[in-house]
Amino acid sequence: MDLQLNGKVALVTGGSLGIGKGIARVLAREGVDVAICARRKDVLEAAADEIRRESGRKVLAIPADLTRREDAENFVRGAARHFGRIDVLVNNAGSAPGGILEALDEDAWQQGLQLKFMGYVRCLRAALPIMKQQGGGRVVNLIGNDGVKDSYWEIVPGACNAAGQNLTKALAGQYGRFNITFVAVNPGPVRTERWDGLVKAMARDMKLSYEEADRLAPRSIPLGRIAEVEEVANLVAYLASPLAHFVNGSMIEIDGGQQKPLMDAARG
Ligand SMILES: NC(=O)c1ccc[n+]([C@@H]2O[C@H](COP(=O)([O-])OP(=O)(O)OC[C@H]3O[C@@H](n4cnc5c(N)ncnc54)[C@H](OP(=O)(O)O)[C@@H]3O)[C@@H](O)[C@H]2O)c1
Repeated sequence: MDLQLNGKVALVTGGSLGIGKGIARVLAREGVDVAICARRKDVLEAAADEIRRESGRKVLAIPADLTRREDAENFVRGAARHFGRIDVLVNNAGSAPGGILEALDEDAWQQGLQLKFMGYVRCLRAALPIMKQQGGGRVVNLIGNDGVKDSYWEIVPGACNAAGQNLTKALAGQYGRFNITFVAVNPGPVRTERWDGLVKAMARDMKLSYEEADRLAPRSIPLGRIAEVEEVANLVAYLASPLAHFVNGSMIEIDGGQQKPLMDAARG
């Protein structure tokens, strides 16, 4: 299937590692010029070099900390200036601490909301006027199934994700008439550096070995495994493409049918 992405321009936040890097790589493979951002310049530039070499596309790396408004604006406006337009914005850079209410202090809530929600808001505020002026655009918000499948162990990600999902639907209602469309992608667990951290936390809280926790954690997923980065990246590439233009204000789960209550039960 030709995704009709050849020659387009996409911005991917958190494109230096994990899911974001996977998305940037698949888009570049489809003929898209890509701008990526992250905080660590060396890791970011290594990712850009790798994707450039592999795909032959232009890959622009702009270091940015998206908890800062100026950095978000500099990334979005810098990429638009460089490429002349923004066809696709993939909001992906995010994380929010896990844990139960009693274990979470004010900083944990602030930290989650500052990046996972406000980071997306900052990039949207910078990108939407540009998309409006050029006559359209596509936004893919990489969010997470914690926003729609609650778990008492993941209440900060749950709150941040639910806020992002609500924002995605609300903006779809407002911007459709400008030919700007939105979709939220909600993964369950995906094999990235983050998964390693989650398994370690689970092992600590449940007093298990790492290996036991790694084996137990996917039990909440009927398929008995977690997702690979490429599975999420391929879905995002399709959703970013003109073929999915009518998928607007929607939330797409990619979590193998995860049943969160089973995960909570495992944790006790
Ligand atoms: N992995 C999962 O199981 C999973 C499940 C559901 C949802 N998600 C969501 O999917 C997205 C990607 O997750 P991931 O697992 O691929 O994450 P990851 O492996 O931890 O990668 C995060 C990326 O974001 C960048 N980043 C982190 N903090 C940043 C900041 N303040 N400003 C700019 N960039 C920043 C990182 O680079 P630097 O550290 O150098 O900045 C890196 O490029 C996140 O929004 C996450 O919530 C992940």
